[in-house]
Amino acid sequence: MHAKSLLPTLCRMKTPLIDPFARAITYLRVSVTDRCDFRCVYCMSENMTFLPKKDLLTLEELDRLCSNFIGLGVEKLRITGGEPLVRRGIMTFFDAMSRHLESGALKELTLTTNGSQLEKYADDLYAAGVRRINVSLDTLDDEKFAEITRWGRLPQVIRGIDAAQKAGLRVKINTVALADFNDSELFDLQAWCAERDMDLTFIEVMPMGDIGNEDRITQYWSLKDLRGQLEDRFTVSDLTERTGGPARYIRLEETGQKIGLITPLSHNFCESCNRVRITCTGEIYTCLGQEGHSDLRAPLRASEDDAHLEQAIRAAIGIKPKGHDFDYSRQTVDGQVSRHMSHTGG
Ligand code: GTP
Ligand code: 5AD
Ligand code: SF4
Repeated sequence: MHAKSLLPTLCRMKTPLIDPFARAITYLRVSVTDRCDFRCVYCMSENMTFLPKKDLLTLEELDRLCSNFIGLGVEKLRITGGEPLVRRGIMTFFDAMSRHLESGALKELTLTTNGSQLEKYADDLYAAGVRRINVSLDTLDDEKFAEITRWGRLPQVIRGIDAAQKAGLRVKINTVALADFNDSELFDLQAWCAERDMDLTFIEVMPMGDIGNEDRITQYWSLKDLRGQLEDRFTVSDLTERTGGPARYIRLEETGQKIGLITPLSHNFCESCNRVRITCTGEIYTCLGQEGHSDLRAPLRASEDDAHLEQAIRAAIGIKPKGHDFDYSRQTVDGQVSRHMSHTGG
């Protein structure tokens, strides 16, 4: 292309979002509801008070916000909750976001779900351009599933996963590693995912929210230990590939399957952080592990002009912290944040 004809394109390009530690922000996680049809013990208390509807961003506001971020260089958009698929009308939003996939500005539109509504929505998600989803599942035992999710039932989730795979969605299972809960199921989970051709990622439990009597230290199962157990049975190799999320991947040579490890406690990955989070009320949290946040709803509602919003987004990213302070190494829970995981959707 002639240099002169490049000029208008260059003029339209905005300065990318870069934080104070020179990390480019290309991944946006958006929580579309604080509600959930489960009450996982490590995520919510049994009696949660949810936000009144008027506080939530409308689907149109969510669209405008996400589209602005995409205009500023966000390439990966993950919809979270609570449980994103319990938000009324959410498919309209997914459908609207597919225009950014079509334009090529967005490389991936995805979601993290508990799987309960997938039977209903799997085909629609595929039609909107979603190709890969993460389903949270901590156990394959019906009774333990009911115990950990309080309100969830495993068969419904399995039917949801079946529907997703049938619709052509690639499924990744996210499992929070919990001592004395699912440590005994490591090989069952691994074999089940291999059999169904699903990736599997384990997550270390983080100290988020006051979840009552649960003790994080006794719950904590280090993924260093989990990896060691896999190494006792399989030949494990490290993979260099990344999905743009915090997981580091290993391959089990004997089965060929990929296992992700998300290790906020045993190995901090904040130096490569590329993401920010929006809550369903339009707060921006630039770190999952810190309390600091800014409001984007007011600038969004104050003016039709996106310049205000862009300024507020840039100001928030301009003070993105270096990382979380979660630490159990002194046998105490350090760096705890007060909000529940469901506030920002993980
Ligand atoms: P893919 O790599 O695209 O599959 O996604 P992802 O791992 O970014 O998304 P997912 O929703 O599966 O994230 C899994 C979990 O990792 C989240 O629910 C959080 O518990 C944790 N996690 C994700 N991002 C961060 C982060 O920035 N900091 C910390 N401490 N934990 C994170
Ligand atoms: N620590 C780690 N992961 C958590 N999740 C919820 N609460 C916690 C926590 N305290 C996970 C869920 C789901 C994702 C959204 O976050 O299991 O996979
Ligand atoms: Fe709901 Fe997910 Fe929290 Fe469980 S972890 S209560 S499924 S938001």
